[in-house]
Amino acid sequence: MKKPAILVARAVFPEVLAHLQQHFEVTANQDDVLWTPAQLIEHLQGKQGAFTTGSQRIDAALLAACPALKICANMAVGYNNFDVPAMTAAGVKATNTPDVLTETTADFGFALMMATARRMAESEHFLRAGLWTSWRYDMFAGSDIHGSTLGILGMGRIGQAIAKRAAHGFGMKVIYHNRSRLDAALEAACGASYVSKQDLLQHSDHLLLVLPYSPEAHHAIGAAELAQMKPTATLVNIARGGIVDDAALAQALKNHVIAAAGLDVYEGEPAVHPDLLTVPNVVLTPHIASATTPTRLAMAQLAADNLVGFLLHGKALTPLN
Ligand code: DGY
Repeated sequence: MKKPAILVARAVFPEVLAHLQQHFEVTANQDDVLWTPAQLIEHLQGKQGAFTTGSQRIDAALLAACPALKICANMAVGYNNFDVPAMTAAGVKATNTPDVLTETTADFGFALMMATARRMAESEHFLRAGLWTSWRYDMFAGSDIHGSTLGILGMGRIGQAIAKRAAHGFGMKVIYHNRSRLDAALEAACGASYVSKQDLLQHSDHLLLVLPYSPEAHHAIGAAELAQMKPTATLVNIARGGIVDDAALAQALKNHVIAAAGLDVYEGEPAVHPDLLTVPNVVLTPHIASATTPTRLAMAQLAADNLVGFLLHGKALTPLN
């Protein structure tokens, strides 16, 4: 029997590619060329499946131009690159990679919060520049993590994993805001209390953003929200670019409206707002929150298993539609 044809749209672990090649006619992109939407459509011709990452937009125009397509398996938990209603209407299955990255991403969120509060990037740059000549009582004095109040906006799996680290490991008071409130048992397990968004902004010493991107979440944190935060507060975004108004944040950091920020995601990434590159009180990382080798491998394997499950056995493991 002829194997189904699939496209692996970005470079992937060789072992995952080999696994896919056992089941499919695979067109790979191990040179990791970033295709334009038109090139992606061209490569998808005749393909029943696509292994995608957040950098491939799957929308109505692409679906109309790729009638053979049956499934797109995203190697990411976030899927704002998918127009899921359009995929459903076109009869195309959408899958993502939940759960396998939760703890790793929570570790990173915590690390970024600590690096931001304790001014690790700023002080390292100072040292590397040869500016460290003596000890001083207030040199790079930051803010405490232990015993402080952590605010979490978006309380899904990753938010909950961060809350547990904060409440049980660091003695933090954890408050959160989410579209829907967790049930009492889950709140107790996370050591977290539900508050309004306004209270979250006003009372957090460290505010972590972990909500999925949606048009409603666009610029959920802008100038007006930053103005409500404590001048000593830090803000960390490991969610998606576009949730924070990066221009407004750069301005707020420059004017010390808040103390510092840690960002792993950006509006229009991989481009970064030029003003963010010039303010010292921000830690910048290139969208690596889930990037440990075991976790990225687990994500790739789950995306591959979704393709195998759906195209060969009619059942995706982690469907979105
Ligand atoms: C995700 O899984 O959504 C991460 O942001 C990696 O793209």
